[in-house]
Formats: sequence, C-alpha cells, structure tokens
Amino acid sequence: MQPLLHEACESLSIILGEWRGSGRGHYPTIDDFEYTEEVIFGHSGKPFLAYGQKTKNAVNGDPLHSEQGFLRATGETALELVVAQPSGIVEIHQGSFASNESACVINLESIYVETSPTAKSVERVHRLLRIEGDTLTYDLSMAAMGQPLQHHLAATLERQ
Ligand code: HEM
Repeated sequence: MQPLLHEACESLSIILGEWRGSGRGHYPTIDDFEYTEEVIFGHSGKPFLAYGQKTKNAVNGDPLHSEQGFLRATGETALELVVAQPSGIVEIHQGSFASNESACVINLESIYVETSPTAKSVERVHRLLRIEGDTLTYDLSMAAMGQPLQHHLAATLERQ
C-alpha cells in the first residue's frame, strides 16, 4: 500500500512520478551529444523524495550517465538535494522552489561537490528544473575540468 505523502513534501507533490524524454549536452572539452532519459521521483512517507535517473545515447542506445539522490523540503520554499553518480561524483545542493497545483520551479546551487580519486574534476553545479503541467524541463551548468561555470545539459521530459 502506498504510504501517505509526508506533509513536508506536499508542496513538491507535482514532481512525483515517472518522467521520460530527451536532452542535449555539450561542454568545451567534449563532443556534443544527445540522450534519452528516464527520471523517477518517489516517496516512502518520510520527509524527503527519492530521485533516480538514467540516460542512454540517443544515437545507439548505449547507457550514458545515471544518478541517484534525495530531495528534502526544508522550509516553505527551501530544499536540499544530495545526489551521487557512479562516475565518482557527489553533490550537495541548497536551493529554493516555488510551486502551485500545475507548475513548479526548483533552483539548486551546489554547496559541496566531491570527487573520488579517479573521477573527472567538478567544482560547482547549478541545476534548474521547471514543471508546467505534464512537462518537466531542466538545465544543468557546471564548472568542471578547469572550465568556468557553463551549460552542460538541457532536457524536456513528459509525465508518464
Ligand atoms: C543527463 C545527465 C548527463 C549526461 C547524459 C551526461 C553525458 C556526458 C557525456 C556523453 C560526456 C562525454 C563523454 C564522457 O566523458 O562520458 C560527459 C562528460 C562529462 N560530464 Fe556529463 N552527463 C550528465 C550529467 C553530468 C553531471 C550531473 C555532471 C557533474 C555534476 C557531469 C559531469 C561531466 C564531466 C566532468 C564530464 C567530463 C568532461 C571531460 O572529459 O572533459 N555530467 N557527460
């Protein structure tokens, strides 16, 4: 039986569920790429949402990036994200959100990014998510590989 959504997460309920779509990525140090993506936001009745994401190369279907994390509503408009990537990168974000029944904007700035000894270097990450009805779009910028903060990803997903 599905547990009741914790009251701390009620104002984020619009994000719950499964989303699928596609995106494009670029960065000065790599070739441009296109990907398909599946995202799931779930909950267990506790005061956080569980977040999981996986992507595939849009051209040949090979697995690309994936990540898992948790989103906690920490105040009326405040939230925190912790997220880990199998490539050895861990991000902690602080942010804010604004939502109503049909739309939501979540703005997250990393306050901590750590990389394992063999991971690529990442210093800073900015994540901006928008939901309007059944469409979720996001942009992700990063300061990585010695480059200043700049755009890496943009995607559009539809609610399933
Ligand atoms: C939808 C999510 C993402 C996709 C599809 C994606 C895809 C890619 C691809 C295809 C590359 C180039 C080949 C490779 O190194 O594997 C790449 C490089 C990279 N990505 Fe992403 N990425 C995603 C999210 C992220 C995030 C969240 C971060 C960091 C917070 C990140 C950091 C990097 C770094 C540091 C590189 C290496 C650049 C270099 O080698 O010069 N990526 N990404």
